[in-house]
Amino acid sequence: MTVSSVGVLLAATLLAASLQTVAEEDAPYPAAAMQRSFEAKKQAGMDRLTQDEVQALCTRYTTATLPPAEAERVQKQSLSSVKPPADGQYLGDFKRGEKIAQTGTGLQSSDDPTKPNGGNCYACHQLAASELAYGTLGPSLQHYGKLRGQTPAALEAAWRKLYNSQADVPCSNMPRFGHQKILDEQQLKDLMALLFDPNSPVNQ
Ligand code: HEC
Repeated sequence: MTVSSVGVLLAATLLAASLQTVAEEDAPYPAAAMQRSFEAKKQAGMDRLTQDEVQALCTRYTTATLPPAEAERVQKQSLSSVKPPADGQYLGDFKRGEKIAQTGTGLQSSDDPTKPNGGNCYACHQLAASELAYGTLGPSLQHYGKLRGQTPAALEAAWRKLYNSQADVPCSNMPRFGHQKILDEQQLKDLMALLFDPNSPVNQ
């Protein structure tokens, strides 16, 4: 056999083996197959593959198909994780917030763990009009503060969304930035300023 046909045979055997084990395992999240396929690399440890209760539920269901009793439980549990800012001040610095929204690095094995994580907000949202590249999985956040005003209710709702998006939408696709310690309190405040400060590029 040539070297390349050995390769093809090996690949086919591996594929057949992995298809079989995936089918045998607990669909839709074949945890054991994932454990075999990944390896720990720097800060990206194997613990990343262990789903919390909400992730496991939201692998099986979407926001729309989650049974009402489970939806209520997810929302209640998510809401109880939301910590308001210790000093009661919601708004930081919008310039720092724009940088965090623009930064898509953090937590990957190839990222420098001594650097702060980004929020990667533009991957899913339109924010400043000057930024032409953005994803559309989430709604546009342009003029966010201008449209809502800085009322206590609007500030609390946005903080809750950033802290744990599933407090509002169970099985939301938006990362739970505060709850999962992706961003710290000051970073969340800076993003709040990006959303609400009248001088922020979001509100121009
Ligand atoms: C992976 C995609 C994704 C990322 C990344 C993301 N979001 Fe979201 N966001 C969503 C989706 C989807 C919604 C719509 C509601 C829902 O399903 O949770 C949303 C909703 C929101 C809302 C509520 C909008 C409203 O109309 O009240 C705010 C505020 C928000 N996101 C801010 C942010 C900020 C700030 C960042 C960056 C730190 C961010 N999001 C990152 C997906 C994302």
